[in-house]
Amino acid sequence: MRVALKIWRFDAQRGERALKEYEVDAPDEATLLDCLDIVKDRVDGTLAYRKSCRMMICGSCGMRMDGAAVLACKVRMYEIAEAGQIPVISAMGNLPIVKDLVVDMQPFWGKIRAVTPWLEPGYADPGEKEHVVAQKRMDVIHKESLCIMCGCCVSECNSMEADPDFLGPAALAKGMRFVGDPRDQASVERLQALSGEHGIWDCTRCYFCQERCPKGVDPRDAIAKLGAEAMREGIDSDMGAKHAKWFVTSAKTTGWLRETELVPKTQGIAKSVKDVKFAMGLVKHGKVPPPFPPHVAKHVEEARALYDLVKHDGEQGAAGIVQGEKALGRLEHHDDGGAAAARGPYGPGSFAKPYLPGEQEDAE
Ligand code: SF4
Ligand code: SF4
Ligand code: FES
Repeated sequence: MRVALKIWRFDAQRGERALKEYEVDAPDEATLLDCLDIVKDRVDGTLAYRKSCRMMICGSCGMRMDGAAVLACKVRMYEIAEAGQIPVISAMGNLPIVKDLVVDMQPFWGKIRAVTPWLEPGYADPGEKEHVVAQKRMDVIHKESLCIMCGCCVSECNSMEADPDFLGPAALAKGMRFVGDPRDQASVERLQALSGEHGIWDCTRCYFCQERCPKGVDPRDAIAKLGAEAMREGIDSDMGAKHAKWFVTSAKTTGWLRETELVPKTQGIAKSVKDVKFAMGLVKHGKVPPPFPPHVAKHVEEARALYDLVKHDGEQGAAGIVQGEKALGRLEHHDDGGAAAARGPYGPGSFAKPYLPGEQEDAE
C-alpha cells in the first residue's frame, strides 16, 4: 500500500517547527510505527521518535495522530491509506518536545514518583511464608495494573493543560493501584496525600484519558474510586470534595442544583463574602435563581427515589456519592478490631485492609 503522512518536525535548538509530508510504500499490515521506520530508513534519517517493543508493551511510542494520542505500534494504516487520508502526526501534548515526536518524560516520571508507586506492606521482614492474595481482591485493581506508562492519557488531559502541576491521570491511576492493593498498609495516608492540591479533585471529568488510554486502564474511573475511598475515610476537606457532596445533597433534597448555596457550602461563608459582588452580577443577569424560597422540582420524589436506589444497591461512595460508573467495585475497609491483622497474613501491627464481601470464603 502507499501511505502518506504529514509529520510535525521540531528542532528544539533552533526552535523551528515545520509540517513535512512523506509518502512511502509499506506492507498492507503495516502499523504507523512501521511506516515511520520506513520513512526514517529510506527517506529522512533525521526523523526522531521513540520505540522499543513494537507490540504495545513498553509504552515508548506514544504520539498524536490527527490530534489524539495513540501508540504508533497499535495503529494499523491499511484503512487510513485506502481511504486516501493523510494523517497528521505530532508529539504528545502536555509534555515538552525534545525533537520531532520525542517528548521529555521527566515531568511524567516525577508525578509517578510523587504517588509512592511501591507497596508499603507494614512489616520489615516478610518471613519465609508465601502470602497468597485472593484473585477477587486483586481484581479491584486489575485495570490500574495494566498501565504501561505510555503517557497517552497525560497528553490529552484538559486539567493538566490548565494546571501543569495537576498529578494527572497516569499518576492517579497508579495511586489507586496501591490504595486498592490488599497488601498495602498505607492507603489512608495515600488518600490524604492524593486529596490535596493538584490531586483527585482537580480532575474535570472530561474522560479524555479514558478515551485515549490504549490499554483500558480507565484512569478517570481510578480517580473516581480514589474519591469514593477518600470520602469513606472522611477525607473531605478539599473544596472539590465539598463541592461533590453538596451536589448530592442538593439533588436529593430539591431535585435541583441550588447554585446560590454551592459557593458557601464549598468554600465556606468567610471566603464567599469576597465573591458577593460577582454573585450579585450573576443574579442581575438572571444566571442564578434567588436562594429563597429554595426551588423544589415538581417531581422531587423521583430524585429522592433515585438516590435511595443507588444507596440501596450499594452503588455509591461515601455520603451517597456515585463516583463513576465502574467505581461500583468499591472497596470496603474492614474493621474487625484487629482480629484479621492478628492472624495474618501480614502479622500483628498491620492495619485494616480493603475487604471484598465473599473474599474470605473464596480464599478458603
Ligand atoms: S478525566 Fe480528569 S484526569 Fe482524565 S483527562 Fe479529563 S481532567 Fe484529566
Ligand atoms: S493509564 Fe493508559 S494512557 Fe495513561 S500511561 Fe497508563 S497505559 Fe498509558
Ligand atoms: S513500541 Fe512499545 S508500545 Fe509501541
